[in-house]
This record gives sequence, C-alpha cells and structure tokens, in this order.
Amino acid sequence: MKFYIATDHAGFHYKDQVKEYLSSKGIEVIDLGPETADRVDYPDYGRKCAEAVRDDAGSFGIVICGTGIGISMAANKVPGIRAALCHDAYTATMARAHNDAQILAFGERVVGMGVVQSMIDAFVSTEFEGGRHERRVEKINAIDEAYCE
Ligand code: RB5
Repeated sequence: MKFYIATDHAGFHYKDQVKEYLSSKGIEVIDLGPETADRVDYPDYGRKCAEAVRDDAGSFGIVICGTGIGISMAANKVPGIRAALCHDAYTATMARAHNDAQILAFGERVVGMGVVQSMIDAFVSTEFEGGRHERRVEKINAIDEAYCE
C-alpha cells in the first residue's frame, strides 16, 4: 500500500506524525510537501496530491489543511479523484466502503492526532463494497467526463 501526502501550512504540523504513523504500519508514504511551515496555498498541494494519486494506479493520498475543506475541494477538481473530508473513524470507513475514496482529507484545526490515527486505521483497513455503490461511483465519474471535453 502506498500513500502520497500533502498539506498547506495549517496542516503542516501533522505531516511528520502522519508519515511516522503510516510507516509504523508498514505503509510506504511519499511526501509531496511543503517542506517548511511557511504560508502556502492549499489548492497547490491538494492538486499535487490528487495528480500523484491519479497517475499511480492503486495508490492513496492524505491531504491536510486547517479545516480539510479547501484542500479536499482542490483535490476533487482532478478528474477521477474522490477525496473525502472525514472527521472520525466512521466517516473514514464509509469513504472507502461506499465512496471508494482514494484520498483521505481532514483538518489539523478540527481533529486531534488520536482521531487522525483512528481515521487512518479505518481508511486503510476498509475495502470498497462495490455492488450498488459501484453504480453511484460511476455516476460521479460520469460528471467528470461530462465536463472534461
Ligand atoms: C489557512 O488559513 C486555511 O484557510 C486553510 O488551511 C484551510 O482551512 C482552507 O480550507
């Protein structure tokens, strides 16, 4: 299992802890930045992570900003990417089980590291259920296709 991770300055302080947690679980993690806590724009990093995940079939991503809102919005603009803004283990589980999300998004100013670890545990251990959910995910992909001429 391979994860790409990217944040803005407001999610930067969690990045190393999340990388260490993924590594402790034997999961490969590739850091797409930023390298310092200097102010940056979350669309640049949401896009970077989403493009990396899109170009590396079977990989996953984690994006973090202050709320998780802006960086997940940006990631979701990349066609084929489903980034899920999660707040707890339940939403992280459902993001995989029902939505086949490839990217887990959350806010450093919203959730503590204990909750972050529980979301990661849920996200990496849950498979997409397929079935009726497959049709719905395909309908999400069809929206991308309709606007990508
Ligand atoms: C940065 O101050 C903040 O706006 C950003 O991290 C994020 O919360 C945006 O959605």
